[in-house]
Amino acid sequence: MILLEKVSKYYPHDKVPALDEVSLHIAPKEFVFLVGKSGAGKSTLIKMLTREEKPDYGKIMVGGIDYDFMKKRQIPHLRRRIGVVFQDFKLLPNRTVYENVAFALEIVGVSNAEIKRTVPKVLDLVGLSGTEKKFPGELSGGQRQRVAIARSMARQPKILIADEPTGNLDPENSWGIIKLLEEINNFGTTILVTTHDEKVVNLLKKRVITLQDGKIIGDQKDSGHYDLDGTNIKIQKRSLGGTPAPAPAAPAAPAPEVAQPQAPVAPAEPKPEKKKTSGEEVIEKMRKAKAEEDAKPVAKRRKFIH
Ligand SMILES: Nc1ncnc2c1ncn2[C@@H]1O[C@H](COP(=O)(O)OP(=O)(O)OP(=O)(O)O)[C@@H](O)[C@H]1O
Ligand SMILES: [Mg+2]
Repeated sequence: MILLEKVSKYYPHDKVPALDEVSLHIAPKEFVFLVGKSGAGKSTLIKMLTREEKPDYGKIMVGGIDYDFMKKRQIPHLRRRIGVVFQDFKLLPNRTVYENVAFALEIVGVSNAEIKRTVPKVLDLVGLSGTEKKFPGELSGGQRQRVAIARSMARQPKILIADEPTGNLDPENSWGIIKLLEEINNFGTTILVTTHDEKVVNLLKKRVITLQDGKIIGDQKDSGHYDLDGTNIKIQKRSLGGTPAPAPAAPAAPAPEVAQPQAPVAPAEPKPEKKKTSGEEVIEKMRKAKAEEDAKPVAKRRKFIH
């Protein structure tokens, strides 16, 4: 889960905040679009989550980690829980498709045997089997973005964050990438995507959060649509002390097991309504869960906490 509580960010020399008391709760397995005009603060919000930037005020918790208590040495650990995909792919140009994905595992200390097992499966998951030996320069934009997604998914993160993943793609490839993200979501991964693609947002009918001048001006829980000025959207104060409970759009499928990439996408099942919790309660629960995990011997700790 992702929780932001009154998060504000001032970049140096800026008088107005890039993020202004943003509060937000994203439950495990949700699929969320983050939209807003250029400069609204979308990338800044994402950088808060990946710890590329630190907030000036406010609280952030992601996947059981309270950022206030996170040490520098824990940042790589955080990056294993969160997969990140960018508009410009950020692939290594002199490495093949296979090597690009393998590298993401190498740097976190995954064994060679495990890498050999995982990479073909994750490439299959994103529809890129057969391109292993190609270099990024030999791929289409859509294929490059699939490699970037494969690279992020190889570590089996519980959360995948994509900052304008379709920004450099034509409509057909954009749609393919968004459908791939939806499929990954159906396996149980939480997805947060920023986009300027009105059509895609309106077609997918997911939760849509709208930022304007660093503030959340809209949070449409279901069947959200693209409305940058918030003229037609009703603000739903769902994040902190707010009313609506988390509403994961995804079915209760297992996490994206790269070991079973061909697993069919399970149909959406109605979820039992969860008990409504305020932000404070959520934080308290997370703290308790973390304390319990910390108390266990390292070998017995859960690999991931949503
Ligand atoms: N590194 C930085 N230093 C100073 N100001 C920054 C920096 N990054 C972003 N900003 C400012 O913060 C505000 C929010 O920028 P941000 O990049 O988060 O917007 P965005 O919603 O992602 O826009 P876009 O849709 O164009 O990507 C803008 O006013 C921008 O100029
Ligand atoms: Mg941006």
